[in-house]
Amino acid sequence: MKHYLSIKDIDFLPEWVEGALALKKNPYHFQDLGKNKTLCLLFFNNSLRTRLSTQKAAMNLGMEVMVMNFGSEGWSLEFGDGTVMNQGTSEHIKEAAQVVSQYCDIVAVRAFAKLEDRNEDEAEKILKGFAQYAAIPVVNMESAAEHPLQALADAITLAEHSTQRKPKVVLSWAPHPKALPHAVANSFVEMMKLQDAEFTITHPRGYELNPRITHGCRIVYDQNEALKDADFVYVKNWSSYSNYGKVLLEDSTWMMTQAKLGQAKFMHCLPVRRNVVVEDAVLDSAQSLVLEQANNRTFAAQIVLKKLLESL
Ligand code: CP
Repeated sequence: MKHYLSIKDIDFLPEWVEGALALKKNPYHFQDLGKNKTLCLLFFNNSLRTRLSTQKAAMNLGMEVMVMNFGSEGWSLEFGDGTVMNQGTSEHIKEAAQVVSQYCDIVAVRAFAKLEDRNEDEAEKILKGFAQYAAIPVVNMESAAEHPLQALADAITLAEHSTQRKPKVVLSWAPHPKALPHAVANSFVEMMKLQDAEFTITHPRGYELNPRITHGCRIVYDQNEALKDADFVYVKNWSSYSNYGKVLLEDSTWMMTQAKLGQAKFMHCLPVRRNVVVEDAVLDSAQSLVLEQANNRTFAAQIVLKKLLESL
């Protein structure tokens, strides 16, 4: 594996999940693998879990870590070929990516969707710019359209809590006052396509995800029908994809409640708005897996870094 940019970079998900669970049991077993190796984390957006869990994963493997809030502290980047840089941008991605490659062995990048222009977001200029020009492996810590570290952590959590061979998993849209990106939902869908599970997506009309991603998935517009007999309910807000980046409705009847959840386990990537996306009773119940998902972020990142270190 050259980079970890997408769920599609996973060659065989069960083997990765098994590897991550082995690391969870014995986190320091490969401490020599990262000796004298440095991971650089570049953040163009805020983070709690991704920042700390990826650092922790690197430290478990014996790596040094450098962190930079590039969005607020770095030079504004240019991406165009042959651009006359006489406007706002100060540094070209070509130099930035090559310079970073001289200081570290693996670089991880977080650069969210701006939700203003779909083509601009789907071009993934920052992530793909680093992948194109860096001389070292690049890890996606959430880009405009994908969050593959989160989805891998979710696969680990599902594996730990599945009590039957083919669980029923539902991805349910939730209301939110702000326009949020599609990355978490997209990567969760891509990951679920690799699972032996009965998978359903439910959302109001107008909130269809990118049809290239959901192709072949069961989509049900009636949330109650979708939730029937679910074993796992993954709740997430996203803004409209067709009416790109818009909040079309904040219908509170889509909020996840204890009554709707039934006996299912509750999943969410965090951060979550209490009593908007999900009611307290769910988050504070034993059915909630959100803290375990956050814990598994460390071992998702650790299996990715281990595989990249082994291929250096
Ligand atoms: N789930 C997730 O990526 O959390 P952060 O945005 O806090 O990193």
